[in-house]
This record gives sequence, structure tokens and C-alpha cells, in this order.
Amino acid sequence: MTQQYILIETPVDGVGLIRLNRPEALNALNSDVINQISTAMEAFDADDTIGCIILTGSDRAFAAGADIKEMEQRSVVGMLTGDKLTDWTRIARISKPVIAAVSGWALGGGCELAMMCDMIVASESAMFGQPEINLGIMPGAGGTQRLTHAVGKAIAMEVMLGDRRLTAAEALHYGLVNRVYPVERYLDEAIKLAAKIATMPGVATRMIKAAVNKAYDLSLQQGLDYEKRNFYLLFGTEDKDEGMKAFIEKRPPQWKNR
Ligand code: CAA
Repeated sequence: MTQQYILIETPVDGVGLIRLNRPEALNALNSDVINQISTAMEAFDADDTIGCIILTGSDRAFAAGADIKEMEQRSVVGMLTGDKLTDWTRIARISKPVIAAVSGWALGGGCELAMMCDMIVASESAMFGQPEINLGIMPGAGGTQRLTHAVGKAIAMEVMLGDRRLTAAEALHYGLVNRVYPVERYLDEAIKLAAKIATMPGVATRMIKAAVNKAYDLSLQQGLDYEKRNFYLLFGTEDKDEGMKAFIEKRPPQWKNR
């Protein structure tokens, strides 16, 4: 039987929380861990009672990277034919907002996993890095692209070529994370942020997430066209009718998420 490496909770209404639970390996991400995270996220994505998802680890480690002991025996043919990174891309395809609550190590695939999420709430002890070069390899789950987009070319190069680790304060300064809190508070604060987002109209949150992500893929004009299309589409939702009516009637809106 496959070992269960994650815990699934709903700490408050509307928020689905996935907690990595492989402490003996600092939450190293083997194929089963990634498959379990992807499956749990897809289940929350399909669950009408959930409006925002949190991914977290322990106070000591969000995740110390892809599992080196699993990768050690792999060959290029095994990597290519098994397409070992496919399950990782399932995480980036989740349509609801996802927050990474990061404390301790977020290295290699752990940093990449956090960057696949839409926002990062960090503890003061969080440490971000892409140390794959020490193993004779390179980031393979988005690090060269997402870190460069987040912190810029110069710092990204130093992190990946020189194994520079970014403290939580540096990560905040460079725009990699949204907020930093003492270790006793970061998860509660992530839950508060998620709870607030979960109260927002669900179709609009998905449309906004999709449009912001297009800013990475498309030219400015294509992105603006995509945004305009989503904007117009929201005029077909009951939430648009309710939101505008509630504003005019000076009362809180009652979202239907449709
Ligand atoms: N894979 C497998 N096991 C790991 C691991 C990893 N990435 N990181 C830590 N562990 C295991 C250690 O082997 C150790 O297990 P044992 O007790 O059985 O030996 C246990 O976790 C605790 O680790 P340490 O004793 O090393 O703890 P530490 O506090 O001294 O050091 C650390 C912590 C600095 C994070 C160190 O563990 C480390 O450098 N880990 C590897 C980080 C790394 O290189 N990550 C990148 C992986 S490659 C990748 O992610 C590719 C990709 O892009 C997809």
C-alpha cells in the first residue's frame, strides 16, 4: 500500500489545507508525494464548498526538494519515457487561488512548488533556494522561469548558479513572497488570507487568476485581449448582477459562485 505523505484539513469554512507530512525526509518530494498533492488539490478544485487552497509543510521544512534518493538511480531514458514531471504540472493547472504557507527550507523542487502557487506567505525562518547545481543538475520544475519572473535575472542567476539562499526578508524584498510573519503566526495568517479570498465570488476569482497568469505567457496586447474577454464573460454571471445590485442597495452581496 502507498504511504500517505499528506494531511488534508479544512481549518475554516471555504479553505482547503494540504499539509506535507514526511518529516523524516524534510518533506522531500518523491513521485508519491507529488501525486498525492496534485490529487488533493484537484479534489479541492472540484469542491464547491472550497474557495481557496493552502499548501504547507512543517515549521522546519516546507520541502527540501525533489527526492534525491529516488532520482539517484534515474537515467535520461527513464526520465523521458516516464515523464517524471507530469504530476507537477497538474498543480500549476489548479483554477482556484492557491497559497503556499512556507516555513524553513524551500529548496529545489520545494521552492518550485511554492512558486507554482499564486501567493506565498512565509515565516521568518523560511529559506528559499535552487541548489540543484550542487547535484550536477538544474531546476526542472519551473525554477529557471518562475524565479526569474519573480526576482529578476541577476538574483535568479546567483541563486541558481551560485547556490545563494534567500532569507524570508530577502524574498519579501525581491517580490518572491507576499508577507512574512513570526513562525508561530505564518500559518494562521495564511489561513486568514485564504478565508478572505474564499468569501469572494468564485467565478471572478478564477477569471482573475487565469488572466494574471496570462501576463507570463502572452504579449501585452494578447494579455489585454484575454483580460477583456474574461471581463465581458463575467457580465453573464449571477454574481455580477448581485454584486452591482448589492452595491446600489448598500448591503453586503450574497454570492452564488455562478
Ligand atoms: N531528497 C531526499 N532526502 C532528503 C532531501 C532530498 N531533497 N533533503 C533532505 N533529505 C533527508 C536527508 O537525507 C536526511 O535523511 P537521513 O536522516 O535518512 O539521512 C533528512 O532528510 C534530514 O536531512 P539533513 O540531515 O540533511 O538535515 P540538515 O538540517 O542537516 O540539512 C538541508 C537540511 C540543508 C535542507 C539538507 O537536507 C539538504 O541540503 N537537502 C537537499 C536540498 C537539495 O539539494 N534540494 C534539491 C533537490 S533536486 C530538485 O529539487 C530537482 C528539481 O528541480 C525538481
